[in-house]
Amino acid sequence: MTAKQEATPDLKSVKSADKKEKDYGKYFQAPSLKDAKKRGKEEISVHYDFAIPEEMKEIGKGHHYLIRTFGCQMNEHDTETMAGILEAMGYTATEDELEASVVLFNTCAIREGAEDKVFGELGHMKRIKRNNPNLILGLCGCMSQEEKVVSRVLKTYDQVDMIFGTHNIHRLPVLLRDAMFSKEIVVEVWSKEGDIIENMPKTRTGDTKAWVNIMYGCDKFCTYCIVPYTRGKERSRLPEDVIAEVRELARQGFKEVMLLGQNVNAYGKDIEGRKYGLGDLMDELRKIDIPRIRFTTSHPRDFDDHLIEVLAKRGNLVEQIHLPVQSGSSEVLKKMARKYTREHYMELVRKIKAAIPDVSLTTDIIVGFPGETEEQFLETLSLFKEVEYDSAYTFMYSPREGTPAAVMADSVPEEVKKSRLHRLMEVQNEISLKKHQEMLGQTYELLVESESRKNSEVLIGRTRTGKLVHVKADNSLIGKLVHVTITDAKTFTLYGELVTKVEV
Ligand code: SAH
Ligand code: SF4
Ligand code: F3S
Repeated sequence: MTAKQEATPDLKSVKSADKKEKDYGKYFQAPSLKDAKKRGKEEISVHYDFAIPEEMKEIGKGHHYLIRTFGCQMNEHDTETMAGILEAMGYTATEDELEASVVLFNTCAIREGAEDKVFGELGHMKRIKRNNPNLILGLCGCMSQEEKVVSRVLKTYDQVDMIFGTHNIHRLPVLLRDAMFSKEIVVEVWSKEGDIIENMPKTRTGDTKAWVNIMYGCDKFCTYCIVPYTRGKERSRLPEDVIAEVRELARQGFKEVMLLGQNVNAYGKDIEGRKYGLGDLMDELRKIDIPRIRFTTSHPRDFDDHLIEVLAKRGNLVEQIHLPVQSGSSEVLKKMARKYTREHYMELVRKIKAAIPDVSLTTDIIVGFPGETEEQFLETLSLFKEVEYDSAYTFMYSPREGTPAAVMADSVPEEVKKSRLHRLMEVQNEISLKKHQEMLGQTYELLVESESRKNSEVLIGRTRTGKLVHVKADNSLIGKLVHVTITDAKTFTLYGELVTKVEV
């Protein structure tokens, strides 16, 4: 990877999937999942020259923007970047769609349910757009990388003024200008491996916790997953850029950083001429004066011993690891192309627990993958009992068009998927409750985040292991680190009593 000073990324590989239907003119570059799947040998460029065009710098003055976010933390962080760009153009944020001049839907394609939600909300925008024809409504995020979505929007949702992809965020000012001055819908989705754009402005939500991208894209191509198609090739930010960003956040008084990537354990593998991995990065970030550093998401296959060694040094590296397993059956894992077995995973868990005995492990699981038998599902249940996760995100398999699993035989009936999900959650809830009860009477460091929505006298914070604790305290403690003793434990919540403030 090299650093280049180049304004316009190469567009050679971009094709317009649906152009035949209608000529949308110069503003039309539609996605192609097939092109997105290619992993070329070209070098990834890092750009440090993002700038808002002169004529767009004041265009938002006196106007408001609203961004609705539907996806994962990466998606939420992209929203922070788009908010930063819009604010650099003079726009101010609003929560009221009737007041907004620009509304962006930052979408997620991971499951059908996520997409249905977006289409529902788009429908609702029709009336708002009718009452405010000057409103610019944009669709971005992972759904815009899918040709079936783009063609459905073109056919049925004429309230949409622009569609842009996950690789086109830095083009927002230009696309907004085109949308304002064009009668046609503006579509710009690049189905390419992707670049790294370093210096885009960001408006972060809150001043306590911050997200920091360490890498983009995914090359794992798990057979059920759309992300490698919507987010491009695995590409790491240079360590010096990540370290500089975390240092700056520490200087600004942030208390916690969450490092982001779809597969953070592959960090650094694409950086040419250096042998540098996530363990090396964490070992450097450890020295920065910020109380907590987390990362997500880990892939069990690339999780190496050096990283475990570094995490065991603790300090600001918290003892929590999100380690998605997806299934407890080696056969299912093979069909998912996860490229590890149950045994490999269990060995990794054993090593992590030996190095960090009080570690909190969480996971993601898919039930009802094509062909999953009752026996194979029971292996997932038994893995849950063996590992004893602190919590788990459980999903029913949802076919994603264009992925290999979508055409696999033996789809599992909906009722069976539902019942497996339910059985799994019952097992997990019992484990979660037991783990919470073990915390009774013990004292933990808590980063206080906010008031409880139900009771303003109660604050909510998280332990280093990421567990939510409710505590009665003055709201001047929001954003501070305190100590609490756990007094009550339920399946999903802990209650504590304030002991001391760790620092001001
Ligand atoms: N990069 C992360 C996952 C990102 S998606 C990782 O590899 O762990 C978050 C979770 O959504 C996945 O872990 C998986 O459990 C779930 N998921 C992905 N595709 C899915 C699909 N087609 N159906 C149901 N769940 C899915
Ligand atoms: Fe999807 Fe697998 Fe990549 Fe995670 S590692 S984003 S599940 S393809
Ligand atoms: Fe969804 Fe895209 Fe994230 S599909 S989960 S928003 S990477």
